[in-house]
Amino acid sequence: MSKLSFDRILQTQGFGTRKYCRELIDDGEVSVNGEVIQSYKTTIETDGLIFSIFDEEWTYHEHLYIALNKPANFECSRKPSHHPGVLTLLPEQFSWRDVQPVGRLDHDTTGMLLMSDDGPFIHAQSSPKRHIPKVYVATTAEPVSDELVQQLLSGVQLHDEPELLAAKICRQLGTHQLEIILEQGKYHQVKRMLAAAGNHCAALNRSAIGQLTLDSLGLAEGEWCYLAPEQIALLAPDNQ
Ligand code: URA
Repeated sequence: MSKLSFDRILQTQGFGTRKYCRELIDDGEVSVNGEVIQSYKTTIETDGLIFSIFDEEWTYHEHLYIALNKPANFECSRKPSHHPGVLTLLPEQFSWRDVQPVGRLDHDTTGMLLMSDDGPFIHAQSSPKRHIPKVYVATTAEPVSDELVQQLLSGVQLHDEPELLAAKICRQLGTHQLEIILEQGKYHQVKRMLAAAGNHCAALNRSAIGQLTLDSLGLAEGEWCYLAPEQIALLAPDNQ
């Protein structure tokens, strides 16, 4: 539980500088339960706080934990060069809060992308030591064979990698489709593994991280949602 003054609340939530947030309040643009906040000095309990700015409702979040269904042709990089960045799919104030993608998907990869402004969470989720499974559905250019599945399961040699990299699980879903579960997060890993096994990745979707599936979130491409604590708990290694 913590109480904050309203200008501080708006600032922490990414609505602008302290000065600008005070102006918003002075202009009568901020309300709680239909009552306009009269002074920026008003302090209020932040836990569960819902407030409105310009008649749009926002829930106070100390930290943001977000899942985005990433469409193709968006870049995860902070300084995108050829396509718009994924941050453009979120409300503008989230960028002010320094929300970042947790790991990266290639610009042409679709599916579940986590985003957060919680440094330790980002670090823990990205740590190779934690072995959090990531589930990918890959569409292949050439037909899938038993041999391809076996190769991906037993490990393939990627350039610059000291050891063979293997899928934790790999199963055929269709003539040109595979489900691949990886516990590492190397650069272009699925595409490079498929290429090293003699096939080619034509399309790639991340369908789950840990036990949290994109299907369970019901997000259309380009949509995002806040993650509840019980959903965050599913983003864990299998053995936890
Ligand atoms: N592996 C890839 O090759 N690309 C991604 O975007 C994710 C995993």
